[in-house]
Amino acid sequence: MKISNKLIELLDLDCRIAILTGTGVSAESGVSTFRDPDGLWSRFNPAELASMNGFMSNPELVWSWYNYRREIINSVKPNPGHYALAEMQKLFPYYTLITQNVDRLHQSAGSSNVIELHGNIIDNHCVRCEEPFSNEFDLRSKVVPHCKCGGMIRPSVVWFGEMLPDAAIADAYYAAENCDVFFSIGTSAEVFPAANLPHIARSKGAYVVEINPNQTSLSNYADECLRQPSGIAMPELILQLKVKKI
Ligand code: APR
Repeated sequence: MKISNKLIELLDLDCRIAILTGTGVSAESGVSTFRDPDGLWSRFNPAELASMNGFMSNPELVWSWYNYRREIINSVKPNPGHYALAEMQKLFPYYTLITQNVDRLHQSAGSSNVIELHGNIIDNHCVRCEEPFSNEFDLRSKVVPHCKCGGMIRPSVVWFGEMLPDAAIADAYYAAENCDVFFSIGTSAEVFPAANLPHIARSKGAYVVEINPNQTSLSNYADECLRQPSGIAMPELILQLKVKKI
């Protein structure tokens, strides 16, 4: 895989970097993606399991499905791609990591100030009073816990049809509008508003890099596509930056 000299030259200390990641970054940790041929949406119905309507019509099913995913996520570790992104944050003063992922593997690998566009699967909150609840529940229980106000407790992920957290989307748009290089890593670029971000960056003159073994709807708009798994491409990028003595 050849990283262009242009990208290596662009990545100097005053380069403003914005990165958007998707589930592809966690694939090498053993976390299922959503839209790959064996992805979650090939086996489960997102409308039934990742929406408020789905939760209200069958709370036990949705609560159990998220506990099933939580048990998988509790059993996996960050991969070299996550660690390389955490290392990149240490190298560059102007660096923003935006993720669509809810698994918190970026944070486990050492990334900080991660912008979580779609919330996280660890935390919960009451559907009625929004009281926050950490992950203190028995993951094997199918019984949906209730808040003292009587409301049901739900996972703190953003479901289809829900608004993204105001601060997260504002910070993500700001980073995309004010970067010199935008990386789109491990995402099919199918879900908005996240999928807008690389196009916003491009419209402001940023150099857009896609890291994904497969073609996506962003590929034709990217300045550079690295057709490799992120767990290979990202460590290679860090290595080349060290050779450059960034
Ligand atoms: N390295 C990099 N990319 C990879 C790897 C890998 N090892 N393995 C798979 N991919 C790519 C796939 O080619 C695909 O383009 O990761 C992408 C995953 O795409 P999706 O499954 O659509 O996941 P994502 O883009 O994160 O989905 C966005 O959709 O369902 C909602 O809220 C959910 O946050 C999610 C959003």
